[in-house]
Amino acid sequence: MRRISILGGTGFIGSCLVSALTHRGYRTRVFTRRRERNRHLLVVPECELVELDVFSDEALAAGLADCEAAINLVGILNARGRSFHDAHVTLAEKLVNACRAQGVTRLLHMCALRANGAGPSEYLATKAEGEARVMRGAGDVVSATSLRPSVVFGPGDSFFNRFSTLLAMSPGFIPLACPHSKFAPVYVGDVVEAFVRCLEDESTAGKRFELAGPKVYTLRQIVEYTAEVSGLRRRVVGLGDGLSRLQAGVLGLFPSPPLSIDNYLSLQIDSVLTGPNGLETLGIVPTEVERIVPTYLGVRNRAGRYRDFRATAGR
Ligand SMILES: NC(=O)c1ccc[n+]([C@@H]2O[C@H](COP(=O)([O-])OP(=O)(O)OC[C@H]3O[C@@H](n4cnc5c(N)ncnc54)[C@H](OP(=O)(O)O)[C@@H]3O)[C@@H](O)[C@H]2O)c1
Repeated sequence: MRRISILGGTGFIGSCLVSALTHRGYRTRVFTRRRERNRHLLVVPECELVELDVFSDEALAAGLADCEAAINLVGILNARGRSFHDAHVTLAEKLVNACRAQGVTRLLHMCALRANGAGPSEYLATKAEGEARVMRGAGDVVSATSLRPSVVFGPGDSFFNRFSTLLAMSPGFIPLACPHSKFAPVYVGDVVEAFVRCLEDESTAGKRFELAGPKVYTLRQIVEYTAEVSGLRRRVVGLGDGLSRLQAGVLGLFPSPPLSIDNYLSLQIDSVLTGPNGLETLGIVPTEVERIVPTYLGVRNRAGRYRDFRATAGR
């Protein structure tokens, strides 16, 4: 049975990926900083949960032993403890070097849609730099593929769930930074399926795939829809640029900020496709937000059905 090492496998996307790989007959080895915080993975068959410092070259090399492939999902939205550069660039480079040294010939890397070395946010700039180092470092020894999703949704996400929580705490209205920013939310099940297909298809080596859902929404549309599905009557008050930046600066001072200056800078770039949708290239039909989000945000509105905001959302 083939064994895959996964960095960042304990998170939202990683946990779904581990489950999908298990169903396909793979054994997984998931590295984490805190084993006891991720007990949900202890019950997954053929999944080894290993507490390990992935920044240690020796520990990483040992962790990759006997693995056929490695997947890197480590990512941070706020620099706490580790810098963006450490989490997205240094680690990506260490991993590709370790793969070469340990004879791991397949590497899947998680980037982000619209990541670009020119920024504007540190998150996007370092994501792009990490991807570039992986592709360069792989050479002809390691077959590397990079996936670049827009915002990912599904049970346990920190997008729709976070807005639902913020809306519930809001007193009748919610001041929303960057209301015109655009996203093409992509279902976690589709993202995970894209990883599995890339893993099993050598012809994807050396390629980057942008992953997006079937439709584009503004942030305002997303938050209004979230309120409706959550059964909350809230007015969304869109903030102009100056107030958006100010809100990000203030909220960014919180220990686990819902918005930071770097997040604000990311929102200046629409998270939408620049080329073909990699899901379709890989033979996956993108899943609509309206099919999935109500199943986990789940309060039916008074009319007893969910409002479908397809009419107002453009591509
Ligand atoms: N979710 C989205 O909408 C979205 C969109 C585009 C791209 N992405 C990218 O997809 C990847 C996974 O996203 P996610 O939403 O699943 O993230 P998540 O739930 O926040 O999980 C992050 C994972 O990274 C690991 N990690 C974080 N900081 C680390 C550090 N300093 N050292 C070692 N491991 C560290 C965590 O492992 P432990 O805490 O167990 O050690 C955890 O498994 C990230 O690279 C993210 O940038 C996500």
